[in-house]
Amino acid sequence: MNNKITTISVIGAGYMGRQIIEKSALYGYNINVYDVSSEGLEEFISDVKKKTDEDKIKIDINVFPSISEAVRNTDLVIEAVPEKLELKKEIFSLIDKSAPKNAIIATNSSSIPISKLEDVVERKDKLLNIHFYNLFTMPLADIMKGTQTSEETFQKGKAWVESIEIVPLEVKKECYGFVLNRIWRAIKKDCLKIWAGGYADIETVDKAWPIFCQYFITNEYGPFQFMDRIGLDVIYDIEMSYFKNSGLPDDKPPDTLKEIVDRGELGVKTEKGFYNYKTK
Ligand SMILES: NC(=O)c1ccc[n+]([C@@H]2O[C@H](COP(=O)([O-])OP(=O)(O)OC[C@H]3O[C@@H](n4cnc5c(N)ncnc54)[C@H](O)[C@@H]3O)[C@@H](O)[C@H]2O)c1
Repeated sequence: MNNKITTISVIGAGYMGRQIIEKSALYGYNINVYDVSSEGLEEFISDVKKKTDEDKIKIDINVFPSISEAVRNTDLVIEAVPEKLELKKEIFSLIDKSAPKNAIIATNSSSIPISKLEDVVERKDKLLNIHFYNLFTMPLADIMKGTQTSEETFQKGKAWVESIEIVPLEVKKECYGFVLNRIWRAIKKDCLKIWAGGYADIETVDKAWPIFCQYFITNEYGPFQFMDRIGLDVIYDIEMSYFKNSGLPDDKPPDTLKEIVDRGELGVKTEKGFYNYKTK
């Protein structure tokens, strides 16, 4: 596998595009940039150049007057234009026509699966969702294949994400909202319902949240480690209680959870749940 990504192209240098440019520059990548608007772009690029010069990082960053020029010499193109499917299609088609045949094309879209852009490109095996959160304060990126993306493309994209010290969140199959966005969406959805339904004040929710999260931070637990500690039989019963209350199919806990419980794998208390706690 040729892992050599040395030059990236960023199409759309707004809020996210600029973070991608700055972070990639600081990790030694050459960068080609295109944006329809030049507002503040030259100043931004010159600030980034100052930082790389100070750190003695030898790279090229150039702004180009067209997409075709910005992607002519590149290994990875990241599109970060506004969240409009038709616009992204138009841009992907232009990129595909001008970028070297082996270049990967990725979208930073927050919601559009890359499969929705497959029909406008020839290189269907070289497409990726690389969804960054915030490259400096929340260094995570969901990474997801399209229906024809090769494993080589996926691994190359993942390695590049890791090379700029962003933690890749591998999405195993197409999932609306990727990984973390989807979890965040579940939290957001019920916060809004609690607020709009008059069940609690926003201040109550916001007071509870950091205390709740502190437990996870202190113990370095994720949700599955937490559920293993509560007990998966308990979790199952609680989820069934919600389901019986609402009657909504979406509230029904997955059958796979029931299967784990029926096998007696209840978490820490039985030394096996989502994780294995047996010491020998
Ligand atoms: N804002 C976030 O927190 C966030 C987080 C993750 C992902 N995203 C995704 O990243 C993408 C960009 O979001 P953003 O917040 O950076 O938007 P933004 O509006 O800040 O930036 C978009 C940039 O694209 C440029 N643009 C518009 N049309 C263009 C075209 N035809 N060709 C080239 N450039 C063009 C605009 O001039 C602008 O600079 C979206 O798909 C969004 O869903 C956003």
